[in-house]
Amino acid sequence: MAAQFLARGWSVVGTVRGDARTGLHDLADDYPGRLEIACLDVSQPDQITALHQRLAGRRFDILFHNAGVANADPRQSAGTVSTDEFVRVLVTNALSPMRVIEGLQDLVAADGLIGVMSSGQGSVSNNEKGGADVYRGSKAALNQFMRCYAARHAAGPRALVLMAPGWIRTELGGPGAPFTLEETMPKVVDVLISQQGRPGLRFLDREGATVAW
Ligand SMILES: NC(=O)c1ccc[n+]([C@@H]2O[C@H](COP(=O)([O-])OP(=O)(O)OC[C@H]3O[C@@H](n4cnc5c(N)ncnc54)[C@H](OP(=O)(O)O)[C@@H]3O)[C@@H](O)[C@H]2O)c1
Repeated sequence: MAAQFLARGWSVVGTVRGDARTGLHDLADDYPGRLEIACLDVSQPDQITALHQRLAGRRFDILFHNAGVANADPRQSAGTVSTDEFVRVLVTNALSPMRVIEGLQDLVAADGLIGVMSSGQGSVSNNEKGGADVYRGSKAALNQFMRCYAARHAAGPRALVLMAPGWIRTELGGPGAPFTLEETMPKVVDVLISQQGRPGLRFLDREGATVAW
């Protein structure tokens, strides 16, 4: 996503965990002065506060929360997964995005966009086949929390987007996923840009089509 925004002339602040060099650092070398890298483990509230302090006084057109995890064995049902694993997935995918959004929202332009990477698996009404219970539940919880957030800000001018990007070949998506990041992310970024200036919450796929709640 950072590469896509940079290629379109945007400036980006992206976050990583830990001190290791990442692909984001390589990208920063390709775009001197336009990609700033900060450290953030989204499950650590003090790190969200520190990032807010670091960015104080700045104005962002888009705040987008991408970080997410799946449980190690997606075949485990909600009734058989360990409590630790359940908590890890729910905290990362549902609680942390809301903390990031509520913690950083005042850095976003009054008519800016706040987005989160959800998933088609977060759709309750499209869940006919089951499976990946914990991941599905975490994204459904995220969607519900965003609906609460949107209701609290119903009169606000900001666009709010829950993105269902499709099944993509990443570490989380696995090698069997049908789509690459390279073919998916341009579409995801097109959709985000198209939603700027459109107040209210939408659950959208990478083509910009509405996903059923
Ligand atoms: N791939 C798919 O098919 C698919 C489909 C629908 C939705 N999604 C969603 O897309 C998002 C990105 O997933 P991906 O497929 O790109 O998976 P990925 O390759 O496993 O990447 C996940 C990213 O999230 C970061 N992350 C995890 N926990 C974090 C934490 N506590 N603090 C900060 N960063 C954290 C990871 O950082 P590290 O590098 O430090 O581990 C990594 O950069 C997730 O929200 C996922 O649920 C993916």
